[in-house]
Amino acid sequence: MRFSVHPPITNASGPNSVTYAELERLARSDAGAVVTKSMTHCPRTGNPEPRLRERLHNNIGSLNSMGLPNLGYHEYAQIIPKLKEYKKPVIASIASARCSHNLAPIEQYREIALTMAHAGADLLELNLSCPNLEEVPISMDPQSVRQVLKAVMKEVKIPVGVKLSPYNNTPKLFEEIAQILLDFEIAYVATINSEPLTLDIDVKTKTKVIRPNEGYGGLGGPAVLPIALAEVHRFYKFFQKHNAQISVWGVGGILKAEDAIKHFLAGASVIQIGTLYLWEGPAAFAKLWAGIQEWLHANGYTCVEELVGTVRDL
Ligand SMILES: Cc1cc2nc3c(=O)[nH]c(=O)nc-3n(C[C@H](O)[C@H](O)[C@H](O)COP(=O)(O)O)c2cc1C
Repeated sequence: MRFSVHPPITNASGPNSVTYAELERLARSDAGAVVTKSMTHCPRTGNPEPRLRERLHNNIGSLNSMGLPNLGYHEYAQIIPKLKEYKKPVIASIASARCSHNLAPIEQYREIALTMAHAGADLLELNLSCPNLEEVPISMDPQSVRQVLKAVMKEVKIPVGVKLSPYNNTPKLFEEIAQILLDFEIAYVATINSEPLTLDIDVKTKTKVIRPNEGYGGLGGPAVLPIALAEVHRFYKFFQKHNAQISVWGVGGILKAEDAIKHFLAGASVIQIGTLYLWEGPAAFAKLWAGIQEWLHANGYTCVEELVGTVRDL
């Protein structure tokens, strides 16, 4: 099921997308759709502070181990109808995490997905790839990915996308996961979530820059652009090869129009911005879209679609 977003730019789930005030700011912005913070079954306060270094040295990116702080899905079921008043698609990002109810992850996804569809979400983004929880992300286990998709897609009638971790060094796992996405004919794959288990050190204080998980966290921003491009391109080629109607949404490393153009060339038809949104706030959407349009015009294109997946081998 194809789903179009115009302009083809949204926020990436997480940064400043937790509360109603934050989500409303996104709804008022020039983003083509609003993506919520990944919501879980129970509300979560997340990991101990400091858990986010917004700017790493030399602006190479952001590092976080937030631990999915969010209001819990019941609260988002109240928020979604209010966001819909802004007449742009609302995308509910859903995750699972250990909680006091002891519900199995598959049940958590299923129950939240049903509630979000009922609340009026236009699309679901199943975050299978949070790098900052105790448990190994579901995206690393093909059988669990299949079970979650089966449970959700059996009951939910709105389009479903998935958000994945990078598979850059695990080509066999990539193939297995891509095949499952094909089997379920999902609407889109958003790639990548933060690059997991990365570390930065402050040489003045000689300490790690974030506290949780012994300082290891997920990397976003310019440093991950080549990783994201590779993932986008591999999924794009895989879906092309199998004539699948699954879109690839490019996430990772986009700071300026040229970065977005690279994502489109690699095969993304929609892009999402995380670290850029952290750094520049809602004004980032209009600025980025203007830059993209300027580039298209200067290079003889009339729309983004003409560019998608057209990168050539050397
Ligand atoms: C503070 C912060 C919180 C995040 N929380 C989530 C989240 O809840 N769900 C999710 O799918 N990704 C989350 N991410 C990952 C981003 O959505 C995005 O995939 C990643 O940052 C790469 O994009 P970027 O290079 O534009 O930052 C988070 C990222 C940051 C920086």
